Amino acid sequence: MPITKAVITAAGWGTRFLPATKSIPKEMVPVVDRPAIHYVVQEAVESGIRLIVLVTAPEKKAIEDYFDRMPELERLLEAKGDMATLAEVRRPAQMARFCAVRQQEKAGLGHAVLAAREVIGNEFFAVLLPDDLIDGPEPCLRQMLRVHEQYGGSVVAVERVPREAVSRYGIVAPELLSGRVYRLRDMVEKPSPENAPSDLAIVGRYLLSPRLFDILEHTPAGRGNEIQLTDGIRALLREEPVYALEFEGQRHDTGNKLGFLKATVSYALRHPELGPAFRDYLCSLNVCHD
Ligand code: G1P
Repeated sequence: MPITKAVITAAGWGTRFLPATKSIPKEMVPVVDRPAIHYVVQEAVESGIRLIVLVTAPEKKAIEDYFDRMPELERLLEAKGDMATLAEVRRPAQMARFCAVRQQEKAGLGHAVLAAREVIGNEFFAVLLPDDLIDGPEPCLRQMLRVHEQYGGSVVAVERVPREAVSRYGIVAPELLSGRVYRLRDMVEKPSPENAPSDLAIVGRYLLSPRLFDILEHTPAGRGNEIQLTDGIRALLREEPVYALEFEGQRHDTGNKLGFLKATVSYALRHPELGPAFRDYLCSLNVCHD
């Protein structure tokens, strides 16, 4: 059965990006000319996802509005004959079908995923964390779907991180299967460097078995007193196979300020209209010799 539903968790405060995120959802902060979450939806759609379940919070209505039609604005652009802008304005709502569910309290990533249970039902589904933009030769989620097609089971995306950074991630205990694919024996959320089972960190892409929902219902609060997705998947891998894929591509963590700046430069350089002029501008700065 093809995987066609994805959960995008977008209910957090965005504390790493204050003060901007005091009144703008962090997912709506633009990277070049569209909000960060647009790129994540695009990756999902290019991987075959047809229904996006947005897990949001009361103060984040702007996300739902972005993926909806805006008839008044559309009529205005139509009357002006600005068909190019009209197409851009319509595109987000046309990318997929969207529905939004509320996470009723900010009780952790596992709790946020559980909020989508009724919409997902009893089928494998994807989870994408919108802080992570992944730019690769092939959409990261599509690379993971190929692993799922070959081996079955759940799949998480991983990348190697410096030892001193392991405490910012879920870290896996891997057993190499072939190439870039691992079978997971264990995982731990944000370990200290001494206790980390490897340097392979989970990034914000998951393909998950619906069995996880039953598990999350009973997963106690863990690290940070929150219900952790990592703890749920850790229990899942005792019952069903869970794989990790060291994906091909470059990940940008747009949830932190430096990662966001790097993503902006990288996406701007590749932008078909802005790229060449932006490159000239960067070269003219000569900042490296200061
Ligand atoms: C979350 C997950 C963590 C994962 C990370 C990837 O942490 O809990 O396991 O490694 O995303 O970005 P967060 O960044 O929300 O603290």
